[in-house]
Amino acid sequence: AFMQELRGVSYLEEQIRNQFQLQHVIVVPGDSDELSWGKQEMGKACVRYLNDILSTDDTIAVTGGGTIAEVANMMSPLEKAENCLFVPARGGLGENVENQANNICAKMAQKANGDYRLLYVPDPLSEEAYQTIIEEPAVKEVLQLIKSANVIIHGIGDAITMAKRRKTPADVMKKIEEGKAVGEAYGYYFNEEGKIVHKVRTVGIQLEDIQQANCVIAVAGGKSKAQAVASYFKQAQCHVLITDEGAAKELIKGS
Ligand code: G3H
Repeated sequence: AFMQELRGVSYLEEQIRNQFQLQHVIVVPGDSDELSWGKQEMGKACVRYLNDILSTDDTIAVTGGGTIAEVANMMSPLEKAENCLFVPARGGLGENVENQANNICAKMAQKANGDYRLLYVPDPLSEEAYQTIIEEPAVKEVLQLIKSANVIIHGIGDAITMAKRRKTPADVMKKIEEGKAVGEAYGYYFNEEGKIVHKVRTVGIQLEDIQQANCVIAVAGGKSKAQAVASYFKQAQCHVLITDEGAAKELIKGS
């Protein structure tokens, strides 16, 4: 039965890799919608993968969310990659502190024996404040580090779940609903075809940066996130997906 399980998972990995033209896919057993330890398993798998690919002096940008928080929880000293620098990919996006990129980034760096820089910016921001803040030398320096990151690790969320969790104002909520957004990643909301329905104005990584990055790792699982993951892949380039069986089985149904 165990061998059958293993074959099952590697079949899913291969299918998804081909379907979405990814470089690498890891599927962990179970469905994190139902299992309390599902996100931890994806976190562990992500840490193992990072241990394989990271080199000394690499810069890693990380987003927020409960899944990436589990990557931080599972992090251990990076033996082969000394002196790594962790930066938050984007601002807080209106999340509670435990789900904010700054907090997760600092924790990940400490556990990895690495270094970190933080983004001290309030957000979401007005256009005027945004333009002023991105010119601040301290912010500029971190933004440059973010844009030069070798590896980007991010979560993907169900659009409505994310908008509600971030206490999105009513007018924006309406835009997200009327635009039929189904997926969300680093503050961008996507519809089923992958079109951008809304984007939260905050400093940090923009979709253009993602399109140019060398190694983008998405970590997202649970059957309820399958549609979100598929919508995101229609728009953004991503190299690696770390997911679970719950999302994976649903993802290949659409092929
Ligand atoms: O952008 C997506 C969210 O950060 C995902 O959050 O990992 O808590 O579901 P989550």
